[in-house]
Amino acid sequence: MPTFKAVGTANSSGNTAPTTDVQLPEGRPTSANEGGTMHNLIIEGGHRLTGRVRVSGSKYAALATLPAALLADSPCLIENVPDIADVRAYLDILRGLGVDIDQPEPGVVRVDPRGLSTSTVPYELARAMRASYYLLPVLIARAGEAEVSFPGGDDIGPRPIDLHLKGFKQMGMEISVEHGSIHGRADPGGLRGASIYLDVVSVGATINLMLAAVAAGGMTAIINCDRGPYVVNVADFLNSMGARIQGAGTDTIRVTGVGPRGKLSGCRHALIPDQSETATFMVMAAATHGDVHIDGVIPGHVEAMTLKLREAGATVEETGDSLRVRSPGRLKGIQVKTQPYPGFFTDFQPPLTSLLTTAEGTSVIVETVWPGRLKYLDELRAMGAHAQVTNQAAILKGVAGLGGARVTAGDLRAGAALVVAGLMAEGRTEVRGIDHTDRGYEGLDDKLHGLGALVERVEAPAGTGPGAGAGDDSSEDGQG
Ligand code: EPU
Repeated sequence: MPTFKAVGTANSSGNTAPTTDVQLPEGRPTSANEGGTMHNLIIEGGHRLTGRVRVSGSKYAALATLPAALLADSPCLIENVPDIADVRAYLDILRGLGVDIDQPEPGVVRVDPRGLSTSTVPYELARAMRASYYLLPVLIARAGEAEVSFPGGDDIGPRPIDLHLKGFKQMGMEISVEHGSIHGRADPGGLRGASIYLDVVSVGATINLMLAAVAAGGMTAIINCDRGPYVVNVADFLNSMGARIQGAGTDTIRVTGVGPRGKLSGCRHALIPDQSETATFMVMAAATHGDVHIDGVIPGHVEAMTLKLREAGATVEETGDSLRVRSPGRLKGIQVKTQPYPGFFTDFQPPLTSLLTTAEGTSVIVETVWPGRLKYLDELRAMGAHAQVTNQAAILKGVAGLGGARVTAGDLRAGAALVVAGLMAEGRTEVRGIDHTDRGYEGLDDKLHGLGALVERVEAPAGTGPGAGAGDDSSEDGQG
């Protein structure tokens, strides 16, 4: 049985990070239990979206800062946390580890890691949540060893974690994989800094190795890492705790680890706005020939989408932390190739592709990150889209309009794509398995109502959930 310690309680490394033992009132509980019932979204299409909508906090940053808070020796207060199913599931995992979670007000989570009592993450919980792999280096820093199930794949292509494991091994972690679980161990001196080259630019590997490096002894360099703002946001959080990370946002991150006797302390931190949610509302505004102000955003984080929408003929104006998207007429076809940030993000692709099914002329979509991320085009065909899908690319011949149909969401962003299609289509669309979108979009139905969309969520009658539809080959997951 491992012994638990807060990083550095034995001896401060002398860093000057703020120690904030945040005292806050009791908050409402959260639960990842969504009841197991699937839902469908009924959309009465053809209505322009108008008005204002506010974007929630970043899913990627939330799913990394929540486990990162376990590295501190006192509570962390995290603000702008999105109320999405993946976050609720993560909070349940942390509670199961003995961590005290408090939600003093909507969007604010206080994580008190002092009660951490086990470094084994229950198989079913870890398996349902891809980002549970961030717990491996964090629990090893606290307890010297940890067991976390291999994260499950989903239906957007293979989801290897070889780069994470290779980097951990370079840092001295002993790893064995048995019965679907990863068992990691560090010797009593803890992990050691290393120079690590990532063969593929990876969000998860960048953040996971950064988490390991923060608590390791000595210097770590992570080369060819992801440059996204969520990486910067997580690095800022860790630095506020007392970590020494430089270069986040560039392709090389250097970390001076605090070592097993160093100190990381609780802090207060706000998450950045969610880029994928912002991009989805931008597409929805353009797709319905609407006029929508999207508030609480960082326009620079979605620049690739802004430029692509402008290229297609939409108007996108930036004012402070707000974007106004309009599209009075029919858009024209464009070419899109997904790439790591600041390239056109893979998560933006499904909603934009939906919109392009009705753009004049030909559009070409090349998906370079997730080979399975064009499957939802089968569903769009049922709505009248003309799409030829070949080996990670789609060629769309724009049709004048889509027609409402029964379609099935196989994963999170496929769900968003089908909602875009339903909003554009003539008549009634039923998106089965809309629950997938709850993993990454906070209050989507309410936000759409606020913009004038006619949508209604209904419980899926038995036998009509994902998997029941003709030609439906979706998995049950969207483990972003
Ligand atoms: N890859 C490897 N080996 C690894 C890790 C990744 O070959 O060890 C490859 C993947 O196969 C993929 C590419 O690297 O081709 C990029 O994968 P990445 O590691 O960046 O993906 P991830 O960290 O598993 C996160 C998001 C995804 C998002 C990708 C974009 C979270 C929890 N998930 O996944 O979000 O699409 O980055 O790269 O942060 C979503 O929100 O819908 C979603 C799927």
